[in-house]
Amino acid sequence: MTTGKINGGKEMRRKYLVLAGVLCIITVAAGGCKSGEEETVKNIKIGVTLYDQYDTFISEMMTEFTEYAADKEEESGVAINVEIMDASQSQLTQNEQVKSLIDKGCDVICVNLVDRTEPTTITDLAENNHVPIIFFNRELVAEDLERWAELYYVGADASESGTLEGELAADAFKTNSSMDKNGDGICQYVVLEGEAGHQDSIVRTEYSVNTMVEKGVETEKLGYAIANWNRAQAQTKTAAMLTQFDNKIELIIANNDDMALGAIDALKASQIPKEEWPGVVGIDGTDVGLNAVKNGEMLGTVYNDKEGQAQEMLNLAFVIATNGEKDEIPLLNGKYVRTPYHKVTLDNVEEYENKQGTAN
Ligand code: BGC
Repeated sequence: MTTGKINGGKEMRRKYLVLAGVLCIITVAAGGCKSGEEETVKNIKIGVTLYDQYDTFISEMMTEFTEYAADKEEESGVAINVEIMDASQSQLTQNEQVKSLIDKGCDVICVNLVDRTEPTTITDLAENNHVPIIFFNRELVAEDLERWAELYYVGADASESGTLEGELAADAFKTNSSMDKNGDGICQYVVLEGEAGHQDSIVRTEYSVNTMVEKGVETEKLGYAIANWNRAQAQTKTAAMLTQFDNKIELIIANNDDMALGAIDALKASQIPKEEWPGVVGIDGTDVGLNAVKNGEMLGTVYNDKEGQAQEMLNLAFVIATNGEKDEIPLLNGKYVRTPYHKVTLDNVEEYENKQGTAN
């Protein structure tokens, strides 16, 4: 089994998974990947292709996914072989990977699209070969998901994360007068945006700022930078904005935690004393993000439920591959599973540090 980046603390589990993967491959080789309709399904194969295995949120989600697969295997007695591929940000590579996963006999394929506007090659391949697809995290437009009955999406509602991030920022600005560095009653802010065209960049930016205004905070946008979800890019762009706006920034709104952490890296490297740092808010609640909330470097983050999404995706893939009933899957319109977001501050960060999935 190939996997994405796995966290160090989960090493034992990973060894077990690798072993389980090897055992599954042997079972599959002996029994074939798909069973006849009347037979009880004894083994299944789930393919996964990632837009970029080095994305922090995606790699943490995949760690959860492989853990749930091992749990499900134990609980159900069905051998589950998971094969994970990295498309390294190339849609062409990903299209080829889907083809190869189909050729390898996958019962279902989970696709984290590179370009969410280009799902057609994959959906055509899926339909022609009768292999259902669960898209996740990078949401294709509704019309594309309607192209075939066996296409699904697992993710979250981007507007909700933006609203909650705006609430966190507004609460902090209203309750902490030192955030208003120039004392003009207006929040001077900059935004660090994810990839242009990603649903979470566009919608989170819009909703976070609109929510601050709705909550009664007067705002002034000083600038923005696209940092593609990436910590190093966010550090470089923030350093440039700190110089450009000459220590006038009071709030940095990041579309995800990795970019918020990049902003904090830039602040640490600057001459600005810590007590004069702008507030920083993020989204995801990755391990490193939660840590930054805990040590007071980040005002707060919005938890993007990677455990819930991983668990729902595994459950859906399992039901599809074993020809089971979908009654237990919380499908909206028969196609979508969306997990809720949650606000995280110093007050509740510990609840999220060891969060487990809640789906059945
Ligand atoms: C996450 C980001 C991640 C992106 C990848 C977003 O939902 O918040 O951290 O980089 O998905 O598609």
